[in-house]
Amino acid sequence: MDEGLKIGDTMRKDNRVIIFDTTLRDGEQAPGASMNESEKLEIAYALERLGVDVIEAGFPVSSPGDFQSVKAVAKGIKHSIVCGLARSVKKDIDAVQQAIKPAKRGRIHVFVATSSIHMQHKLRKKPHEVLDMAVEAVRYARKKTADVEFSAEDASRSDWDFLCQVVEAVIKAGASTVNLPDTVGYIMPLEYGQMIAHLKNNVPNINKAVISVHCHDDLGLGVGNSLSAILNGARQVECTVNGIGERAGNASMEEIVMALKTRFDVYGCQTNIRTREIHKVSRLVSKYTGFPVAPNKAIVGSNAFRHESGIHQDGVLKERATYEIMQPEDVGFVGVGLVLGKHSGRHAFKVRLQSLGFDLKDDEVDRAFERFKDIADKKKQVYDEDLMAIVEDEFKLIKPTWTLVDLSSTSGMKITPQVEVTLRSKGKNHCHGSSGDGPVDACYKAIDAMTKLKGKLLEYSIQSVTQGKDALGEVTIKVKMADKIVIAHGTSTDILVASAKAYINAVNKVIAQGH
Ligand code: KIV
Ligand code: ZN
Repeated sequence: MDEGLKIGDTMRKDNRVIIFDTTLRDGEQAPGASMNESEKLEIAYALERLGVDVIEAGFPVSSPGDFQSVKAVAKGIKHSIVCGLARSVKKDIDAVQQAIKPAKRGRIHVFVATSSIHMQHKLRKKPHEVLDMAVEAVRYARKKTADVEFSAEDASRSDWDFLCQVVEAVIKAGASTVNLPDTVGYIMPLEYGQMIAHLKNNVPNINKAVISVHCHDDLGLGVGNSLSAILNGARQVECTVNGIGERAGNASMEEIVMALKTRFDVYGCQTNIRTREIHKVSRLVSKYTGFPVAPNKAIVGSNAFRHESGIHQDGVLKERATYEIMQPEDVGFVGVGLVLGKHSGRHAFKVRLQSLGFDLKDDEVDRAFERFKDIADKKKQVYDEDLMAIVEDEFKLIKPTWTLVDLSSTSGMKITPQVEVTLRSKGKNHCHGSSGDGPVDACYKAIDAMTKLKGKLLEYSIQSVTQGKDALGEVTIKVKMADKIVIAHGTSTDILVASAKAYINAVNKVIAQGH
């Protein structure tokens, strides 16, 4: 029979696509993206608010830190399923079982590679041995929990007949989800769709399990491949926020969700995602991984809904649909409207924050309002993005040991930069002046002298939060301090102050981690 469904064939009863988010597991495998437990927990809460069905929180056997993070997520999350990854070996499965024990709804996700290239060179096993491993692992995991997912790693480069055999056997052994990853981002959308259709048509018990897909973006086709699979019967997609992940990353969650929503006419499928939360989660993931989102990134890039050309602007003003296929508000994009100025009152400020999704206590509103007034004095226009940066900067998870009181600097082309910094700790002010290779270097030396923590700056980047000469600058740094590597941020209209704040935040993080 003809392999592969055609557009329009998908209006079926089972039209709900399960969103399986692996930002905290595969996303965190991106080089340099590691996050600490409290950051992961905050992201997990944001994913739950977003409406993600399954949160893959980590790979518990890989490190004690990962184990603890999965456990913390399992404890905190009430509605989403919390999942942990395991190779098809008992000790991995035991580790997941322990880590997800506190979860209201937990899942064990076991995997083994099924392609000849992986079986021969990586596993050094014959296909029948791999088949046995898969079945045994699923049986063992089913003794621990009812919800077991099996992944055939490198499925897209596996022999289709062997894949059918493995999938049939693991479903028989009790897997309720079978995942068929394009592990190396190799397959093309047409082929992937045909592969899913082949499994649907040739595995006799396939209706007893949900078909899942998991695509990497090595050829830029992660989202396209996932959508092609959905068109052919896959009903779970594994994806990450901002598309972060191994190498070129994973399929981007926001792009898949918005493609399904915008082109319902093609896919006929829905998700449980509250799309208005998308931007907030994207910012959070970017903040904690230290990976900035490219301005032209679909759905969550700062330019994704901005029109520059006169013809486009004219068209949008006359009728939005001329150049907009989605409403920016639908994904929580708030960066275009002018909101408050220096004459705005506390009440208007509080209401605006609420509409941006920040429900602060009264004393927190007071603190944020003070900061807002400060910025409104310096900036002509305060945008929603500025407000979000203020709140995110002001209410960090870490209780600060050191805070910035004052900073003054002299620099120029012909003089050595001098910076004087005043910090406060335990009710006492400390002041120190330093010179350096540049004002940021001088500032960081002064902070090192007072905190007695010598930091090595590994990465430094600055992004403007909004547009214009008076925009808020957001500095992101990666620093090595006391043998720990931390990512920290700071915002201000003055880039040296933003740099100092980022560095002090790094110091506070290291102290909070038990230095
Ligand atoms: O890319 C992959 O194959 C994976 C599996 C472990 C699901 O991440
Ligand atoms: Zn992967």
